[in-house]
Amino acid sequence: MEREALLRKLNWFYSLEVNQVRMYSTQSKDADDPNLARALKRFAEIEQGHVENIRELIEGLGETSTMIGEAVGKITGSIAGGLSDFSTTEKMLEFNMTLEKKAIADYIKLAEEVDEPKIREVLYSNMFDEELHTFWMQDYISNKLPKGCRL
Ligand SMILES: [Fe+2]
Ligand SMILES: [Fe+2]
Repeated sequence: MEREALLRKLNWFYSLEVNQVRMYSTQSKDADDPNLARALKRFAEIEQGHVENIRELIEGLGETSTMIGEAVGKITGSIAGGLSDFSTTEKMLEFNMTLEKKAIADYIKLAEEVDEPKIREVLYSNMFDEELHTFWMQDYISNKLPKGCRL
């Protein structure tokens, strides 16, 4: 894969991940269920790990990471913030899952295109985290179990 194209895509992921950190942090502060708040806070921490590992990949190619606000905005609309942007918690989580699924599809696509095994493994590693976020949120929506007793 051409270096410029790879850098463009990595910067796109970098931008997406920075937005994911902000989004989950805001949602965590807004959540009225303490366990949902904890989960969203943990997601934000994991997304911060993605920001850093993508930044390292970009720096490994001798470049500096840059935010591509426009590209990310196209997907996320007006980057949703907290619960106040949605009528229900379910709608917020469904929005989050749509973003996660887009990220998963894009991570797989790029992982299949890159030649460098080290880069590919970082992309797959992030992809599995996004899958875990998606599964957790789907489970949260599906199981209306008492707080703290969800398994
Ligand atoms: Fe991520
Ligand atoms: Fe995620």
